[in-house]
Amino acid sequence: MPLCDVRLFALAAVILLLAGAGAGAGHDDSAARRTMEEFAGFPASDGGDGGRDRGRDGSSSFYVDSDGLQRQIDELASFSDSPAPSVTRVLYSDKDVQARRYIKGIMNQLGLVIHEDAVGNIFGRWEGSEAGLGAVATGSHVDAIPFSGKYDGVVGVLGALEAISMLKRSGFQPKRSLEVIMFTSEEPTRFGISCLGSRLMAGSEELAQSLKETVDNQNVSFFDAAETAGYKMHLEDLHNVFLKKDSYFAFIELHIEQGPILEKEGIQIGVVTAIAAPASIKVEFEGNGGHAGAVLMPARNDAGLAAAELALAVEKHVLESGSIDTVGTVGILQLHPGAINSIPSKSHVEIDVRDISEKRRNNVIDKVHQSAIEISKNRGVVLSEFKIINQDPPALSDKSVINAMEFAAKQLNLEYKLMISRAYHDSLFMARISPMGMIFIPCYKGYSHKPEEYASPEDMANGVKVLALTMARLSLE
Ligand code: GLV
Ligand code: MN
Ligand code: MN
Repeated sequence: MPLCDVRLFALAAVILLLAGAGAGAGHDDSAARRTMEEFAGFPASDGGDGGRDRGRDGSSSFYVDSDGLQRQIDELASFSDSPAPSVTRVLYSDKDVQARRYIKGIMNQLGLVIHEDAVGNIFGRWEGSEAGLGAVATGSHVDAIPFSGKYDGVVGVLGALEAISMLKRSGFQPKRSLEVIMFTSEEPTRFGISCLGSRLMAGSEELAQSLKETVDNQNVSFFDAAETAGYKMHLEDLHNVFLKKDSYFAFIELHIEQGPILEKEGIQIGVVTAIAAPASIKVEFEGNGGHAGAVLMPARNDAGLAAAELALAVEKHVLESGSIDTVGTVGILQLHPGAINSIPSKSHVEIDVRDISEKRRNNVIDKVHQSAIEISKNRGVVLSEFKIINQDPPALSDKSVINAMEFAAKQLNLEYKLMISRAYHDSLFMARISPMGMIFIPCYKGYSHKPEEYASPEDMANGVKVLALTMARLSLE
């Protein structure tokens, strides 16, 4: 059989296998088995395997191992600095190091070739038959913001590894290499920088330079924190994290929706067409402080009230945009010295603003800046810092990846819808160096960034199957 026919058979086999591979449901997969028989080297009969590899219905070697995936998600969630059901896993903490070890362990079991870059982005590669071609990559993050849930990011890492496992079980042979990436610090928790690993991979010189001065809220430098986690590096090493534009043929991220649409509409898969534009800002006010009883109201320069007023101004400017797509949040508001009987002498505010329209988002940022200046004048406090930490443009998914994801959903008879991502993801930065696409699955009531976050095994299995088939298809192009 000519080589390209073998590859088409391989893909057809994977399609049939995935289509017939329910999360433990009973299926007649004889068609898939027949196709696989023609696919070189695959044992189509049940004989001799002792049933080792069978699904829960006992009839098939090809299934999403939903029990195994859930077990891994639960195990990973136990590496947490807050009590279950919440998860807290911050960059370069002991728990983050344990989670990294856990992921590398699975990559190892799957026979992937593991590589880590200077900041700890982890890559597990399954070499294709034409390893010189750009690889098809997937992945997400496993760091978790304080008191969050166990599915954000994790589904896109463990689910991706299960997709690889499935393709391996099916006897599929990739032409382009397939790669699973676990990105370092998608969440901005420790150093205030979102998508740190993928931002660097996309070649952000600005970030590489700013990391020289970056410290966490305990004054631990980025480089010292990285060293404690086993990543000793120098500034020059950061440039080795940068990737060339054609390193990947495609990048696909599987993620929970983190919003309510799919669940509400009863749709199994979201095919993401664009990611909204995020921005974050740090603001500091300084006043005189003083005794809460002795300093009379007209004599005060209250840095805390300046922060409170700014928080309300953020809400006002966001609502003025007139679009439901504009959102703004003050998620951090700290007062110094933080005593009930002391007027705040300093305040620290962190503001998150997003929109699908970059122009509208930037307009809000300008207005918030104006308000910060006015508030400081009116209250006699100093606006000691107004720093835009990041002001990222939105990203568009690539047509070729969208097509492959749609094709996969159709082949699997799954209902899907095109949608935008209001949350940001490492895909926002991967889109700068690779054609990108994202697969969303429903999550309970759209909950995310809180312990109640939940995705059902069936929805995760659907996402894993769409991912597996999308990667299989792209790997043969
Ligand atoms: C990602 O975690 C986000 O905040 O969108
Ligand atoms: Mn998150
Ligand atoms: Mn995430």
